[in-house]
Amino acid sequence: MKTIAIGVFIFAEIIYQHGMKKILITGTNGMLGKVLVKQLLEKGFYVIGTSRGECKIVCNSEKFKYYEVDITDYFQLHDVLFDERPEVVIHAAAMTQADECELNKDKCWNVNQHGTVHALVGAKMYSSFLIYVSTDFVFDGEKGMYKEEDECRPVNWYGHCKLAGESVIKDAEIPWSIVRTCLVYGEKTSGGRDNIITWADGKLSKHEKIKVVDDQVRTPTYIGDLAKGIISIIEKKATGIYHLSGKDVLTPYQMAKAVAKYKSYDESLIERVTADTFTQPAKRPAKTGFVIDKAINELGYDPISFAEGIKKVLG
Ligand SMILES: NC(=O)c1ccc[n+]([C@@H]2O[C@H](COP(=O)([O-])OP(=O)(O)OC[C@H]3O[C@@H](n4cnc5c(N)ncnc54)[C@H](OP(=O)(O)O)[C@@H]3O)[C@@H](O)[C@H]2O)c1
Repeated sequence: MKTIAIGVFIFAEIIYQHGMKKILITGTNGMLGKVLVKQLLEKGFYVIGTSRGECKIVCNSEKFKYYEVDITDYFQLHDVLFDERPEVVIHAAAMTQADECELNKDKCWNVNQHGTVHALVGAKMYSSFLIYVSTDFVFDGEKGMYKEEDECRPVNWYGHCKLAGESVIKDAEIPWSIVRTCLVYGEKTSGGRDNIITWADGKLSKHEKIKVVDDQVRTPTYIGDLAKGIISIIEKKATGIYHLSGKDVLTPYQMAKAVAKYKSYDESLIERVTADTFTQPAKRPAKTGFVIDKAINELGYDPISFAEGIKKVLG
């Protein structure tokens, strides 16, 4: 009787596990990775987190496992894929600071291009779907409000390497999707870095003056929306390129002003400047921002407004 009960339990467990997809994510210590893990677990997926160094996610779920993987070392990734056999790989790990990329070109190429080759080779062997997270910095910023099919022409090394990563993915022999996103913001996590909202709030709350550019245009993206959009891609097995960003078209100056208004800070602390005020190693594309109609129509993507985003982030 006991043997039969154990047999039934194992059978039920196999059925259960096979009903649920297993997703491997690279870069789970990063801003996007953390939120993706949370949302995927809430939806019942099994999640394999990987990133450089120790896990920065506090999670007791038995559906979550973490492995230290440096994406520049193919064998580290291979071993995890071999053991776990995830159906889907989301490649979010990257060197993301444009100035750091400009100053460390070899390192940036190694992480962002070679790392993507490694993700592809591994996914081709053990998975059936690959999602690559890319950026608005693949565009030159001359036109703004880019569609998926617009011509890419990066103006800095970060954009150049992310675009090289896109070319790698487009050659994949398994179904793939490229998700481009733009100026991501969200709740600050412990040890996490600032974003436009938390940075402006931090400075203005201490009555510090800030200089903010008013000649760059973006469609800022709430991190929760980006993660939701990526999960829709998994659920619909949607292939091809998708632009996932917010819907409001704003300059960083307008974003900082919106933060100040929401918190009733002294708006005169914010000085409106142009990009040439700053000498930064990496040139920024002036006008980016996305047309997100494809994601709305095909994925049911429905991002919140920037005003709602401020409420979420600053409570
Ligand atoms: N944030 C944005 O505004 C934005 C905009 C457009 C596109 N994106 C894209 O979105 C994706 C996610 O970005 P994010 O905002 O989450 O960036 P993030 O917070 O900087 O996270 C990136 C993660 O990748 C990890 N990483 C870096 N090098 C690695 C390596 N060699 N091996 C393994 N992991 C490595 C980092 O590890 P450490 O924690 O050790 O540094 C970090 O945890 C990236 O592909 C980025 O290009 C982001």
